[in-house]
Amino acid sequence: MQEHLAVIGYPIEHSLSPVMHNAGYQAVEKEAIYHKFAVKPENLQEAVLGLKALGFLGWNVTIPHKEAILPLCDELTEEAKIAGAVNTVKVQNGQLIGHNTDGVGFVRSLTEHMELNSEKHIVLLGAGGAAKGIAMALAPLGVKIHVLNRTKAKAQQLVEQIQGFGGQAILEEWEPGEWLNQGDCIIQTTSVGLKMEGYPFSLAGISPETLVVDIIFNPWETPFLKEAKSLGCKTVNGIEMLLYQGVKAWEFWFNEEAPASVMKEALLNALQVENR
Ligand code: ATR
Repeated sequence: MQEHLAVIGYPIEHSLSPVMHNAGYQAVEKEAIYHKFAVKPENLQEAVLGLKALGFLGWNVTIPHKEAILPLCDELTEEAKIAGAVNTVKVQNGQLIGHNTDGVGFVRSLTEHMELNSEKHIVLLGAGGAAKGIAMALAPLGVKIHVLNRTKAKAQQLVEQIQGFGGQAILEEWEPGEWLNQGDCIIQTTSVGLKMEGYPFSLAGISPETLVVDIIFNPWETPFLKEAKSLGCKTVNGIEMLLYQGVKAWEFWFNEEAPASVMKEALLNALQVENR
């Protein structure tokens, strides 16, 4: 039987999820098609009921619906509850199960580059939705999370949330400080760089041993990552986070391992990245 999956969001035309998933289906000869649908906020409920009525196995949810879809789900996984957001839905016995693979996907991509344990200091730049998902997935690993954000009150809130969840978090000022030298890894989660704008402060002074991550992948290398690279640091952009949230969604829908390398190749081809 042909399965149907999709991503819903608004806008949606630039989503690379169909490319990534369809390449995976083709590679393993899975009878499935992954669609993308532009769904305006006011039509979310109807769209969700429509997908269910049409027999979709599941779908991904992206901006701006990740929180709005919460009350439309019959059940939420622990990951979705903790993140307070859903990026993956599965229809199971007529019930909508809301799940979140953003955080675990990010942690999976990070573990490709470093070991995560209670000795490690992670600097989290930003305290928005993306930062929260990442922080909540990192918290149980015991890493020390330094949080800084332009609006300090939001950083404070996130620190309390991490601590309430049993994690280790430290509030920092939104400026260069001790964290520059302490961080084994710096994760940039704000929208600064999307338009190739420079970062509000410099990374000068960080150790070249620091792993520097930006969750943006388009542009491929933000000025923030360029600076980190010029300081001799290993840099990682957001493409792996996109990849592994998709890999984890595949595993949730099909209960089997996803062909991650094929999916990554498809993403890179779609972005036409050279020198990879
Ligand atoms: P997302 O879900 O992508 O994380 P968001 O929840 O709107 O989006 O969060 C955006 C993040 O980018 C926030 O941390 C925001 O900082 P504020 O809390 O101070 O708004 C950050 N951000 C956006 N523009 C910024 C800028 N020009 N300088 C610094 N931080 C910025």
